[in-house]
Amino acid sequence: MNKTPHVAVVGATGAVGIEMIKTLEKRHFPVGKLTLLASARSVGKKLKFKGQDVTVQELTKDSFAGIDIALFSAGGSISKEFAPIAAKAGCVVVDNSSAFRMDADVPLVVPEVNASDVKKHKGIIANPNCTTAITLMALYPLHQAFTVKRIFASSYQAVSGTGAKALEELERQVEQIVNKQPVTKEVYPHQIAFNVLPHVDSFLPSGYTKEEMKMENEGRKIMHHPKFKASVTCVRVPVFRAHSVAVSAEFEKPVTLEAARKAFANAKGLDVVDDPSSKRYPLALDVAGKDNCAVGRLRLDCAMDNGLAFWIAGDQLLKGAALNAVQIAECLL
Ligand SMILES: NC(=O)c1ccc[n+]([C@@H]2O[C@H](COP(=O)([O-])OP(=O)(O)OC[C@H]3O[C@@H](n4cnc5c(N)ncnc54)[C@H](OP(=O)(O)O)[C@@H]3O)[C@@H](O)[C@H]2O)c1
Repeated sequence: MNKTPHVAVVGATGAVGIEMIKTLEKRHFPVGKLTLLASARSVGKKLKFKGQDVTVQELTKDSFAGIDIALFSAGGSISKEFAPIAAKAGCVVVDNSSAFRMDADVPLVVPEVNASDVKKHKGIIANPNCTTAITLMALYPLHQAFTVKRIFASSYQAVSGTGAKALEELERQVEQIVNKQPVTKEVYPHQIAFNVLPHVDSFLPSGYTKEEMKMENEGRKIMHHPKFKASVTCVRVPVFRAHSVAVSAEFEKPVTLEAARKAFANAKGLDVVDDPSSKRYPLALDVAGKDNCAVGRLRLDCAMDNGLAFWIAGDQLLKGAALNAVQIAECLL
């Protein structure tokens, strides 16, 4: 890999794409040249990188000549069409969509868990689902210490997880309600302002949603733990940024709070915020815009043996998307 790679961001104008550009700059990724790609709607738009304006170009089949690394975040159908073209043109794709995550030939990577899987790539590397990535930041250190059997979890997912249009929808609905105007809906099937929706992604015949099953399927692949089980309820909440997840985990080995804290103390990218008597626990507002996830509300689970309950929060635009993608790109160097 070129030591100062030519990097492309596909979906540069989106909620994740904007964070990718900022993350490349913040982490001093040695970008030789930056190409920003989006739909025809955004052609000519200028986005700042290191104080310079970079003009957005239209994504086409010919966009990838000379590009070393392409960070994709323009949705699954765009990834399915263009990621293989980019890989064929000789560039390594880090894809944020769910298009390739479960392909046997495509590594699915959270660098704090399975960075060495990056080496197995054949042109495409997948970034995991945001709720899964954030949960694994706390679950994997516990798994290393006690071997996880299964989890029961509920997520509290921010609207920015749906993209830029959903951010506008929450803001607009709040204004409409405050101004006593009728509420209009474009993105979600129900009003999201002052509401919670137990519906993220589409429903499967089992009654779970696709999003809910990502925790088990992607968790197994990332942790190299094919027996891992996860029963999850994913919920959209009127939070602009950062997902939170309530997890009850059952382990093979006995768990103590002291040993769990020790496992977290050595975990990279994870802060322990756990002092309920001082009202200190992870909050979406506190982790928004931060690289690290935060875990707290640790307690021995009262409903199962060898169980631990915890609450984890993380910025899904960063650890769940842009930061994780740039970390994968760093592994390539
Ligand atoms: N949001 C999150 O927290 C999150 C987390 C993990 C993974 N992801 C995944 O990341 C991807 C992007 O999510 P997002 O939240 O950033 O969505 P978004 O805010 O809606 O942005 C979508 C981006 O894709 C571009 N795009 C749409 N149609 C295109 C086309 N035909 N050709 C080229 N570019 C096109 C858009 O460009 P225009 O501005 O020109 O329309 C925009 O830059 C999705 O696959 C999503 O599942 C998102």
